[in-house]
Amino acid sequence: MNTSAKLIALLLLCAATGVTHAACSYDVVVGDYLRFSTPEVSVEKSCASVTINLRHEGTLAAKIMGHNWVLSADADVQGVATDGMSAGLANNYVKPNDARVIAASSVIGGGDKTTLTFTTADLSAGGKYTFFCSFPGHSYGMRGKFSVTL
Ligand code: CO
Repeated sequence: MNTSAKLIALLLLCAATGVTHAACSYDVVVGDYLRFSTPEVSVEKSCASVTINLRHEGTLAAKIMGHNWVLSADADVQGVATDGMSAGLANNYVKPNDARVIAASSVIGGGDKTTLTFTTADLSAGGKYTFFCSFPGHSYGMRGKFSVTL
């Protein structure tokens, strides 16, 4: 394969797998199911900030099928999710002032949308990060790899 054929093959592969590549802003869709439309997020350290536009295309209320977008180091996912359960919907299922949380959006229900913006200053290129939904019971299915590249 020549270079352009390889590039086209790579683009087709990306489209087929739904993997999105480095950008500073992502549109993420959720619904009345346990899945993010964007299975992976990759940002460049040069992004001064990262923006996640979260939209819930479903109809169920936040207290039934709410979703948020929470970022932490891989090792902290379980602890953040467990403590988030106790924090309740009033705290968007995130323990207040949880230092393990790098960024967290509000919990939204069907028909709602929210935007989360956070700095890349505290993120390390090559670091192991995971984004997930901290609504009780959702973090196992609703999670994905978050990577930072130079
Ligand atoms: Co959820």
